[in-house]
Amino acid sequence: MKTNTRLIHVETPSNPTVKISDIAAISEIAHANGALLSVDNTFASPYNQRPYELGADLTIESLTKYINGHGDAMGGAALGKKELIDQIRSQAMVNLGGAISPFNAWLIMRGAVTLPLRMRQHNESAQKVAAFLQTLPQVRFVAYPGLYGHKNHETAQRQMQNGFGGVLAFGLNTDHDGHNSFVSKLRVITNAVSLGHDESLIVFLGENDERQYLYGDEFRGGFFRVSIGLEDAEDLISDIKNALLAYKTV
Ligand SMILES: Cc1ncc(COP(=O)(O)O)c(C=O)c1O
Repeated sequence: MKTNTRLIHVETPSNPTVKISDIAAISEIAHANGALLSVDNTFASPYNQRPYELGADLTIESLTKYINGHGDAMGGAALGKKELIDQIRSQAMVNLGGAISPFNAWLIMRGAVTLPLRMRQHNESAQKVAAFLQTLPQVRFVAYPGLYGHKNHETAQRQMQNGFGGVLAFGLNTDHDGHNSFVSKLRVITNAVSLGHDESLIVFLGENDERQYLYGDEFRGGFFRVSIGLEDAEDLISDIKNALLAYKTV
């Protein structure tokens, strides 16, 4: 904290390393110092985590991801007490724009109805795929808040009431070309950015990623961020197994 700190913003689980910030602990620090806490809840979704109940003043949700859930609309939401949201309405919306298009709003409202059902499946399948990846000798590391071995597993258990979300990260014991070769052999999981869609998506963050220095040691050497979709978990596991049989190792 600095004397002029007005707002702390955290993203938990974080993109792309799925690190966990302790929302209740950080809110105490923020409030003891006269600052607000804002939490980007996109990776968890409101089904798994409710930052407001843990002391956050503002919750940010990318509606583009789990809340819409079908990868076909873009939107965002800021939630909090009326006096804070009124400032966004009267200042940010007027000066910066950010009003959602009606068609996107309609798609998102339609998708949001099934959020709890979809999240239950994302949580369950991601846990299965993460546990499977952990057993493979070709896998350098797996990061998923639902694994006992995750550094912040206890904090995640405390604040993510219904599950740990559908995003995980992992790296292979190979180089840049080996990672890309693995992705090119996948047939069910699609090589694309974004997350929270019905289909599983994988993106490679290479060792030349400019933010590597922020990620921590295990992530150096390149890794994947995977958003586990709504396919049967066994199909995803088979897809990974088949790609590992065919990819070009170092
Ligand atoms: C944690 C998080 N918050 C917000 C966003 C922004 O989402 P949008 O695509 O709706 O602008 C992203 C995009 O990847 C994200 O990962």
